Amino acid sequence: MYSPSPLAAEVPQLSDISIGGDPLAVEHLAPARPEHPRTVAEFAGLACAVAGDRARWAPLVEYDPVSRWYHRLETGPGYEVWLLTWLPGQSSGLHDHGRSSGVVTVLEGTLTERSLTRSGEARRELRPGSQRVFGPGYLHEAVNDSLEPAVSLHVYFPGLTEMTQYPHLPHVCSSVVGETR
Ligand SMILES: [Fe+2]
Repeated sequence: MYSPSPLAAEVPQLSDISIGGDPLAVEHLAPARPEHPRTVAEFAGLACAVAGDRARWAPLVEYDPVSRWYHRLETGPGYEVWLLTWLPGQSSGLHDHGRSSGVVTVLEGTLTERSLTRSGEARRELRPGSQRVFGPGYLHEAVNDSLEPAVSLHVYFPGLTEMTQYPHLPHVCSSVVGETR
């Protein structure tokens, strides 16, 4: 039967730290601290990472029959990540984002975006994986024109503190206008 030497308890237990010191206390040996996004590409990458992590956002999804549902998913230094849901027919209305820039990523369903820039009005469908990046002063309206619910992810930097609403863009049926001329 094994019996430990009575001297064993007197021998100090050695470890890497007791021999070499704590490597994390030495700045150049410590793992790099994760940087928060600083560029448009990095914010777009953050949105892609969150979008790809379905377990993170899907259980939170709710729908509100009265208005768009939204939930702040994450905040970081100078930015916010919002999760939004859109039932068929729900719309943001025409709005800007104050001094914030942003990245819009559709997670489920389809949104239709109408934007108003100096070069005129543009209309585009945003499907899962689609991303729109915009800067301060960008004017747009998003609506769920489909018959299925939609889910989207919105990153704002800096965080959204002002959002001015404008009257809806007039819907013009060009073919009808053409026929009446
Ligand atoms: Fe917007």
